[in-house]
Amino acid sequence: PARSPAFQNSPTLLFPHFMNVAVIGSGTMGNGIAHVFAQHGFSVSLIDISQPALDRALGTITKNLDRQVAKAALSEDDKTATLGRLTTYTSIAEGVAGVGLVVEAATENVDLKLQIFRELDQFAPADAILASNTSSISITKIAAVTKRPQQVIGMHFMNPVPVMKLVEVIRGYATSDAVTTHVMDLSRQLGKTPTEVNDYPGFVANRILMPMINEAIITLFEGVAGVEEIDTVMKLGMAHPMGPLQLADFIGLDVCLAILRVLHEGLGNPKYAPCPLLVNMVMAGRLGVKSGEGFYQHT
Ligand code: CAA
Repeated sequence: PARSPAFQNSPTLLFPHFMNVAVIGSGTMGNGIAHVFAQHGFSVSLIDISQPALDRALGTITKNLDRQVAKAALSEDDKTATLGRLTTYTSIAEGVAGVGLVVEAATENVDLKLQIFRELDQFAPADAILASNTSSISITKIAAVTKRPQQVIGMHFMNPVPVMKLVEVIRGYATSDAVTTHVMDLSRQLGKTPTEVNDYPGFVANRILMPMINEAIITLFEGVAGVEEIDTVMKLGMAHPMGPLQLADFIGLDVCLAILRVLHEGLGNPKYAPCPLLVNMVMAGRLGVKSGEGFYQHT
């Protein structure tokens, strides 16, 4: 879409608080997103309902910064400065005061996200951008519960956030050009490569990734090959860093199933139907790395 050139290089004029950001949710994605913003000079409010979860998140960020220091990708001083830019909150109202951007990375649950966005709309400054890291929930639906749908956008980071270069920037039905441009620029400031996509089920990343993972599970289910064989073909044959079954364990089988259901329902095509083996494994509580067992043992 056509953009006003006036907005291209002056995000600060549009969004005065843009160096202050809040991240909602301190799990794997939230702590990675907070890490990357803080490392690139932003003051970050990390918000979660549980203080012990926030303390664990700070521990994880410290450990991941230590990995960067160990391989000389970061100095000890930069590590200290990064940690100094992180503040934790258990209240949304307090944590989002004075921020220019909120990135929501709470659990992938529609009702929870809608409730969070109602609160963000109430408490974040009127000019703040509200972004969601959702992997498959509609940005348009989330935006519709706020009074500022033009300022609601998807910022879909990949796991592990400090390592992966992509930010999938998702424009909802009402997202403005100025907000999209700002979020694209901001993603570049984080050392990432942003890619602009429109808001349809699964966006681009999961619309393509999840059918591949599902097909790998169907290949196993039909007895064509074993777990190791399927992953070896894709790792060594296609130069993927992880095989699809190993990646499914890493993402979480429950998350894969939820995304496939969004694709199946939202696009109405039987090719997205989740493999019955995946459904059974999730029902049995075999969720991959997080439960200790999926296609592989993780102990
Ligand atoms: N923080 C900082 N650095 C980290 C890190 C973290 N959390 N995790 C790994 N690293 C660094 C390591 O220090 C290492 O750095 P160097 O290469 O500079 O030494 C590098 O990343 C590789 O790590 P390892 O050597 O420990 O392990 P690896 O070579 O097996 O790589 C991996 C790990 C990067 C995860 C790699 O296996 C990979 O790219 N896997 C695929 C990841 C992927 O596809 N992610 C997308 C998932 S889908 C998603 O997120 C979205 C969704 O909606 C489902």
